[in-house]
Amino acid sequence: MAVGLAKDKSSATSAQADLSDPGYLKIRDLIYQISGIYQPEEKLYLLAARCARRMNVVNAKTPAEYLEHLTVRGNREAELRLLLNEITIGETYMFRSPPQLEALRTVVLPQILEAKGKMGFKRLRIWSAGCSTGEEPYTLAMFLVEESDKLLKGFTFDIMATDLNDNSLTAAKAGIYGEYALRNTTEALRRKYFKPVDDKKLQVTDQLKAQINFDRVNLSDNSKMLFLKGMDLIFCCNVLIYFDLASKRRVVQHFYSNLLPNGYLFLGHAESLYQVDDTFRLVHFPGTIGYWKPSAGYKDGGKP
Ligand SMILES: C[S@@+](CC[C@H](N)C(=O)[O-])C[C@H]1O[C@@H](n2cnc3c(N)ncnc32)[C@H](O)[C@@H]1O
Repeated sequence: MAVGLAKDKSSATSAQADLSDPGYLKIRDLIYQISGIYQPEEKLYLLAARCARRMNVVNAKTPAEYLEHLTVRGNREAELRLLLNEITIGETYMFRSPPQLEALRTVVLPQILEAKGKMGFKRLRIWSAGCSTGEEPYTLAMFLVEESDKLLKGFTFDIMATDLNDNSLTAAKAGIYGEYALRNTTEALRRKYFKPVDDKKLQVTDQLKAQINFDRVNLSDNSKMLFLKGMDLIFCCNVLIYFDLASKRRVVQHFYSNLLPNGYLFLGHAESLYQVDDTFRLVHFPGTIGYWKPSAGYKDGGKP
């Protein structure tokens, strides 16, 4: 399920909701203001279903009453966080985009490592922004550990993996996965980087976990975004699809200033920065695209 409003199974609750109630629009606008996630009017029934769960828990009888819990009551911040946990559901799996890894192997990393090496820097910083339950950062960690004696020889790396959803982050830190998440993961990698939990689940080894720092970051929190500088690579895949143009632009501008010169931003397979941003340079790779932040001496029209 993509981020934004998940299809809700409790159709009874959504069917009962009065979608013309202006309270839902106010809750929709509040979510947008806080998270950048925009829910069009035709999807309000999904929002109503998600709110219904929290409304039941806090015993709010109407959207207006629930809005009070979100905006006025003492525990409003906690309640908003719990609602955001309901709303953002992250479909993801390991090795979701092999062409991105191939682009890293063949072009992106050689280019970045050469430039960093010349300046005497030996550490790579990577950010998985909107990491959901952790499959994307663990994939990157496996890929980079596999490359550590080859491409990355002499370099170390750290991965920061962030999300808005507390439940997803808890699952990511636990690192326990079933066949759905692991369907693209080879037997060799399963044996090397996972240990069995039971006959259906595998858990990421502590060594691999040690490569990643998980943290809660709301991509629409400008004050936090200002402090995440010095990245070589940012992966923000399948996250911005439910943001509107204004929030996409804000987040992408932060990514630009958070990347070091020569760094790359990767988005999801169906996403692009067309009409969102023209500061990055679009770079085509087989089966994927990346967005490059030009190095200091770059002249427009040249190749990255
Ligand atoms: C579809 S998942 C993508 C997971 C992974 N990047 C991938 O492509 O497989 C989208 C994730 O974005 C997160 N997200 C949505 N809005 C966010 C925001 N404002 N700040 C941080 N994370 C957000 C959701 O919680 C969800 O886990």
